[in-house]
Amino acid sequence: MNSVPVALIGCDGIGRELAQAVSRLLNSCFGVGFLEIEAGYEHFRRTGRTLDAEDLQRIRSCRGILFGATRSPRSRVAGYESPILLLRKHFDLFANIRPVKSRLKGERKMDVIIVRENIEGLYAGRERSNGPEEAVAEKVVTARNTERLARFAFEHARHLGRTRVTVVHKSNVLKLSDGMFRGICLEVGRDYPDMEVREELVDAAAYHLVRDAGRFDVILTMNMYGDILSDVAAGASDGLGFAPSLSIGPETALAEPVHGSAPDIAGKGIANPYGMVFSSCLLLERLGQEQDSRALRAAAEQAIAEAFLTPDAGGSHSTEEVLCAVEQNVRAGSRQAE
Ligand code: NAD
Ligand code: IPM
Ligand code: MN
Repeated sequence: MNSVPVALIGCDGIGRELAQAVSRLLNSCFGVGFLEIEAGYEHFRRTGRTLDAEDLQRIRSCRGILFGATRSPRSRVAGYESPILLLRKHFDLFANIRPVKSRLKGERKMDVIIVRENIEGLYAGRERSNGPEEAVAEKVVTARNTERLARFAFEHARHLGRTRVTVVHKSNVLKLSDGMFRGICLEVGRDYPDMEVREELVDAAAYHLVRDAGRFDVILTMNMYGDILSDVAAGASDGLGFAPSLSIGPETALAEPVHGSAPDIAGKGIANPYGMVFSSCLLLERLGQEQDSRALRAAAEQAIAEAFLTPDAGGSHSTEEVLCAVEQNVRAGSRQAE
C-alpha cells in the first residue's frame, strides 16, 4: 500500500458527489489515501477563493489527482479561474486520453481511444476584446508540444495493441495552425511503421463517429476538437455518464470524467458513477497499481452486465447502489483469486 495520498478535488455538483463516493470505494477496496482540496465555483462563491499557491503545492506533494467536475459560469466572473484549466496548465498535463467503449446491450458499438491535446489550441487563454465590434481568440500550436503529444499517442496506441491512428484536424481551413499539427503528427507517425496512419477532417470525423465508429481505433486530435468529439462519441455509444479520461503530464496525472457538474441532476443521488470509476482505473494503472485497476474495471463491467444502472442509462438504481454492487464484485473477485 502506498502511503502518499492522491489529491481529491471534487468541485461542483455531481463532480463533487461522484469524486467523494468513488474515493471512498478506492479507499475501502484498495487502501488508497486521499488529501481533499476544496475548489470549484460553489467554493469560490462561498469563500472568494480559487486554487492558490499553497493548494498547488499540496497537490504537487500527492501522487496523482482525482478530479470531479466544475461548474463554469458562461461569462467572465472577476477573480474566478476554472480549476480544471488551471491544473492542466500548471501541471503541464499535455495529453488527455478519452477511451469511449460501449458496454450496454444494443446496436451502438464503439471502441475508440481519443487522444486530445490538452493545454494549447483555443484553450491557450489568448483571447481578447478589441472593443465592442471585435473579439479575437488565438489558436496556439507549438512544435514541441505537438511532437510530444503525437509520440505519446503512438506509444499509447502500441502499448494497448491498437494498430490505427487517425489524425483529426481542419487544415483545409486553418492551414498554418491545424496544418502544423497535421504535419508533425504525420511525420511522427513515420517512426511507427507498425501503425496505420490516417487523417480525417473534424466535421467528417464527427459524422463518422455517429454513423460508422468502427473505422476509428485511436483518434489523435487538437484540444477543442477532442472536447467536442468525446461528447459526440459518448452520445453515440452508452452515454456521457460512462466516459472516462486521464490527463497526463511529465510529473503527475489527473483522472477526470468527460462529463460536467450536471446541475439538472445534482443533489439527487442518481448520477452515473461509471465514468468516474473508469477514470480511476486509468489513474490506478498510471500509478503502477495495474492489478487494482484490472480488478476495478472487471468489477464495474460485471455490475453493468448485471444491470446496476442509473436512470440516464435506463436503470433505476442510485449512485450508491451501483457503487455498492461494484464494491461487492471487487471483493468477490479478490476472494476468487485467493
Ligand atoms: P454536463 O456534462 O454536466 O451534462 C450534460 C448532460 O448529461 C446533462 O443532461 C446531465 O444530466 C447528463 N450527465 C452528465 N454526466 C452525467 C452522469 N454522470 N450521470 C447522469 N447524467 C449525466 O454538461 P453541461 O450541462 O453542459 O455542463 C454543466 C456544467 O459543467 C457547466 O458549467 C460546464 O462548464 C461544466 N463542465 C465541467 C467539466 C469538467 O469540470 N471537467 C466538463 C464538462 C462541463
Ligand atoms: C471537458 C470540459 C472542459 C473542457 C471544460 C469544463 C473547461 O468540457 O473536460 O471536456 O472544455 O476541456
Ligand atoms: Mn467537454
